[in-house]
Amino acid sequence: MAIVAPSILSADFGRLAQEVDEVVRLGAEWVHVDVMDGRFVPNLTIGPVVVSAVRDAVAGRAKIDVHLMMVEPERYVGAFREAGADSLTVHVEAVPHLHRVIGEIKATGAEAGVALNPGTPPELLDYVLEELDLVLVMSVNPGWGAQPLIDSAFRKLAALRETIERRKLPALLEVDGGVKPDNAGRFTDAGAQVLVAGSGVFKAADRAAAIRRLREA
Ligand code: DX5
Ligand code: ZN
Repeated sequence: MAIVAPSILSADFGRLAQEVDEVVRLGAEWVHVDVMDGRFVPNLTIGPVVVSAVRDAVAGRAKIDVHLMMVEPERYVGAFREAGADSLTVHVEAVPHLHRVIGEIKATGAEAGVALNPGTPPELLDYVLEELDLVLVMSVNPGWGAQPLIDSAFRKLAALRETIERRKLPALLEVDGGVKPDNAGRFTDAGAQVLVAGSGVFKAADRAAAIRRLREA
């Protein structure tokens, strides 16, 4: 079974607690939180106060997976961890001292992830891969929900899966952007184990069916 991580970016923020509670009850094992700073990506979203609201809504039933689309994420690692993040993922494109930041995340007790934009080659992770709990392949350019997926993500997932298996590494492979019940099997075939889906879950007419189909992909 795939792990489903609904992205709250497509939820109704006016009733965020109920939205989070619903997807967890329907089988989401992770809840994905998209932090955007208006600099690394043009959009501006949420900070630690919203993560703590998500933590209260989740009440220990799911992992809180925080995707930091921001410059200088090291300045906020502690704050997001205290707010309830179980995993913290930084962008390789945003961080000059990647190895150090990964260590700082792990020192808080959180799991550490690194994300790759669609134009970034997977080889950039070669020398940190053994340190990682999570590798996040972006299948859209980060910034907004509900964008069409970029096909080269399948090739990148397959390359990373091959490397992770060949080197017998523990990192989970996660994909984010354009994932829907209809195409989820293509991502799991390519090696993704964690499926982030924003509009594919929260905008679905039948959320229960959407989560079930994603899990069974
Ligand atoms: C993209 C974000 C995603 C986004 C995915 O900038 O990182 O997590 O919410 O949205 P969908 O699933 O609608 O493409
Ligand atoms: Zn995301």
